[in-house]
Amino acid sequence: MFSVLLPLLLTAALLLLPRLLHNRRHPTAGAPPGSCGPPLIGETIQFLAAANSTSGFYDFVRIRRLRHGKWFKTSVFGETHVFLSSTESARAILTNGSGKFTKKYIKSIAALVGDRSLLCASPQHHRLLRARLLSFFSSNSLASFIKHFDHLIITTLNSWQDGTVVLLDEALKITLRAMCKMLLSLEEGDEIVQLEGAVAQICEAMLAFPLNLPTTRFCKGLQARQRITGTLDKVISDRRRGIGAKQEDFLHHLMACHAGLNRLTDAEIKDNILTMIIAGQDTTASAITWMVKYLSENQEVLEKLKVEQLQLANKTPKGALLTFEDFNEMLYASKVVKESLRMASVVPWLPRLVLQDCELEGYMIKKGWNVNIDARSVHLDPNIYDDPHRFDPSRFEVSRPYSFLAFGMGGRTCLGMNMAKAMMLVFLHRLVTTYK
Ligand code: HEM
Repeated sequence: MFSVLLPLLLTAALLLLPRLLHNRRHPTAGAPPGSCGPPLIGETIQFLAAANSTSGFYDFVRIRRLRHGKWFKTSVFGETHVFLSSTESARAILTNGSGKFTKKYIKSIAALVGDRSLLCASPQHHRLLRARLLSFFSSNSLASFIKHFDHLIITTLNSWQDGTVVLLDEALKITLRAMCKMLLSLEEGDEIVQLEGAVAQICEAMLAFPLNLPTTRFCKGLQARQRITGTLDKVISDRRRGIGAKQEDFLHHLMACHAGLNRLTDAEIKDNILTMIIAGQDTTASAITWMVKYLSENQEVLEKLKVEQLQLANKTPKGALLTFEDFNEMLYASKVVKESLRMASVVPWLPRLVLQDCELEGYMIKKGWNVNIDARSVHLDPNIYDDPHRFDPSRFEVSRPYSFLAFGMGGRTCLGMNMAKAMMLVFLHRLVTTYK
């Protein structure tokens, strides 16, 4: 009996050896830790409770990260979500060399920004659309944008001379006006005021439960979208009749040059203009607000920044607006911007849908799950950033790949990244050279 069993056991051991060795190297192979809660409901209630609390929805992630470590699994709105926070996973998922991950089509987002938005396009169409939109964000467009933005900031800061301001509210107004100018050449007037209210309603609806009943936040967001589409229809038809046709703005760029098969339809133009406003206004305004908070708490950094910016101001002719070239003199300010973005992590995680079962860092990930790169955790990881809660712009003398995720990475990197940085730099310059 033993003589029959021994060869069988040896053969089985040889066959299993590679697997055993693999499991030794990846001792945790299996699903990531974490609780998916009761069927269907999962941890949705806890997620909504965090989203409606003063701590904000990231608290849901923070608590589980402390409980389970760098990787955890949960279930929200009936779907499995894995949160992960290593630079290795960020690279694998965001560069997506294996083609196993994609941005998910979310019906409620499509209803709000429009299903022709690049946020909702299939991967192939996304590439085309992105290339088309990206061509507008050249250094030429940026150079003229900087002048307009600088003018806007000077006027706004002059209006603050007396009294107190709520910075986030002001920053939201500034960024909306800047984007309307750049995208549509819209400046002061009723249209801007209407857009301001409507854009805020869409942003709120994006975070709300997608229930389309009168009085719900989602329904108000859909109505706001219709109002914005109406305004865009009017601007587009004015352009076709030659009104404002000379404006070298984003709309002009989208309408003008592309005849034939690659021409963008009006629906694509409208949905993507709305997408830019939604993606760029709130994020940049929050980043500016956080940056001012960090500076006010770190006098040494503020002093060093002032020295650099006053030097630049003294070189510039009186009354001249900032130029693209001036950014070359803002080396320390650029680090202040980057450090603010790291500490604030305005977009706290980057979600992707898993297209095939796969293994990442020893964990099994199933097709249909959502993987979320927890950018905030990466930004605050003491193994990546020394003393991560200290506001220290000079830490960016050196940087590790995939450790700075404020604008994402790979094929879905933020389209407005350079514009956002430009807005933050101009704001910084005028703030520290105007106010004590
Ligand atoms: C400080 C300000 C900003 C931050 C922190 C920010 C952050 C981000 C991040 C993290 C992503 C990638 C999301 C992902 O990979 O899932 C993204 C994408 C995007 N951002 Fe920004 N953004 C900012 C400003 C802007 C501005 C000013 C614009 C427009 C002018 C803009 C337009 C977009 C668009 C269109 C996308 C989608 C790109 C695509 O899917 O191909 N963003 N942004």
